[in-house]
Amino acid sequence: MLDGVIDLRLAPMAAVTNAPFRLVARECGAGPLTSEEIDARALLAANARTSELTRFLPEEHPIAMQLLGADPDALAEAARRLEAAGADAIDLNMGCPVAKIVAKGQGAALMRDPLGAALVLRTMRKAIGVGFTIKIRGGWDDRTVNAVEIARIAASEGVDAITVHPRTRSQQFSGVAPWEIITRVVDAVAIPVVGNGDVRSRADAAAMVDATGCAAVMVGRGALGAPWIFRAAEASRDEQARIIRRHAALIETHLSPLTALLQLKKHLAWYARGFPGAAKLRETLFGLETPAAVQDAFWSVW
Ligand SMILES: Cc1cc2nc3c(=O)[nH]c(=O)nc-3n(C[C@H](O)[C@H](O)[C@H](O)COP(=O)(O)O)c2cc1C
Repeated sequence: MLDGVIDLRLAPMAAVTNAPFRLVARECGAGPLTSEEIDARALLAANARTSELTRFLPEEHPIAMQLLGADPDALAEAARRLEAAGADAIDLNMGCPVAKIVAKGQGAALMRDPLGAALVLRTMRKAIGVGFTIKIRGGWDDRTVNAVEIARIAASEGVDAITVHPRTRSQQFSGVAPWEIITRVVDAVAIPVVGNGDVRSRADAAAMVDATGCAAVMVGRGALGAPWIFRAAEASRDEQARIIRRHAALIETHLSPLTALLQLKKHLAWYARGFPGAAKLRETLFGLETPAAVQDAFWSVW
């Protein structure tokens, strides 16, 4: 498998993959983008924080907006609004493992109820004309690994593509992602399957395509502090510095001041991972009160 032809994508990550980080990933070569999860009911209530989450930049196309929810009608209406706002696709989150989310029947809990999930998918599919994708886990726990069943249902309900992060909900992020579940989903459905889980380098992505036959690869944690993973060629240290400066500038331009300060701290702390004294720097960054001070502290150790 030639590395250059892999469709490598940035995985949705709550409070991480906002417009600035997505755009930086795109500028490094990332394929179709996905927003972080957006609660369908909050979107319909149009609260201020949710409005910030739904914003994207023109250069981000093609971009999918990811919805979180359980109520078919609320999800369908939220999907319709995001389509009207210019989203190129709507993605349904069927994998979030967080306790307070699954307690509401959302995220990975949708996989426990295949009939209910089918109704959600049918209702959303009817509501929108743009692409419709889902992101699933392997299943709920090791006794209910039903990614293949859910994928078959999704394909028959008109879903256009499926991303599989093959850990179960019970595994959360522990252990190793069992890529063979991605292979099983690839073998079971005719629609494109995007593989996800534990990809930390382009070599890992090529290995995942080879092992599973997936159509594209999504990278989450491996892109934190390293959006140059999406580049075909290695980034020199100077190029990395340029990308970080660009990211910091985008954060300050496009996010509200409070969010910008927090995002700057978070991302610069990730960029500093592996530096001597990184833990200390992280602590310093989080104690600072202005973007300029955060940047000064970071660049003084770069
Ligand atoms: C901080 C964080 C936030 C996440 N938020 C979301 C989310 O909003 N929607 C989603 O579908 N998955 C979310 N995920 C899961 C990732 O998209 C991905 O499936 C998972 O991290 C496994 O891929 P990786 O091994 O490349 O990180 C999140 C993961 C992390 C680490």
